[in-house]
Amino acid sequence: MIVTIDGVAASGKSSVASGVARALQVPYISSGLLYRGATLLGLQAGLDLHDARALLVTLQAQPLRLEPLAEGNRVWHAEQDVTEQLHSTRMDRGVSVVAALPEVRAWVDAQLRALEAPFVAEGRDMGTNVFPQAPAKFYLTASPRIRAERRARERPEDVPAIEAALILRDQLDAAQSAPATDAVVIDTGPLTLEGVIEAILAHLPA
Ligand code: ADP
Ligand code: CDP
Repeated sequence: MIVTIDGVAASGKSSVASGVARALQVPYISSGLLYRGATLLGLQAGLDLHDARALLVTLQAQPLRLEPLAEGNRVWHAEQDVTEQLHSTRMDRGVSVVAALPEVRAWVDAQLRALEAPFVAEGRDMGTNVFPQAPAKFYLTASPRIRAERRARERPEDVPAIEAALILRDQLDAAQSAPATDAVVIDTGPLTLEGVIEAILAHLPA
């Protein structure tokens, strides 16, 4: 059984996926962390983030591994846990450039498809592209202002600056962010985190 949870930036995907996965007692997979990890390696190597070939060479030479822990996914680069470096404003800015590269998308997709079900997978294209066969698909939305207010608790910038960055990233991610035609769309704006998790659990096939 695979459950997919896609949606726009800061719509609640990873928190909701974690809660749903805990209720089902299965792992969850945060696909965005692999794009963020690829961005970190590119920046550390001083690469032009548009240079797909150089990025691929770096990714293939330097192992980057997603560890789908229930309490929060980790990303390992060789022996180093780099997870804490992946959620900065700098990484938010670069990641959509890297995620637009078909070669990087193919690298991420291969890593995700190698994982053993059951799990909950969250990202942008889990239900459309990576796991189209999943029997339960969800898509989370919320207004840019609400998402910015939530993310402002995790970033040093103020709400208007975060809101502008979220709108820009939504535009840059639009190509891979459409909901699957068979996804249940949930506006998380008026709901608590627990409310979203409960709504998803209520929709799951028995
Ligand atoms: P995403 O994975 O889509 O970027 P996160 O799970 O990181 O989103 O959520 C962004 C922030 O919003 C987190 O601080 C999270 O706790 C909070 N959050 C998520 N869903 C809700 C909700 N329904 N109500 C209030 N806060 C929420
Ligand atoms: O949590 P947030 O929505 O802010 O970001 P994320 O899920 O960690 O994703 C970071 C970036 O990775 C997104 O802005 C997309 O550019 C890219 N991404 C993607 O293209 N496809 C996915 N399945 C997941 C993430």
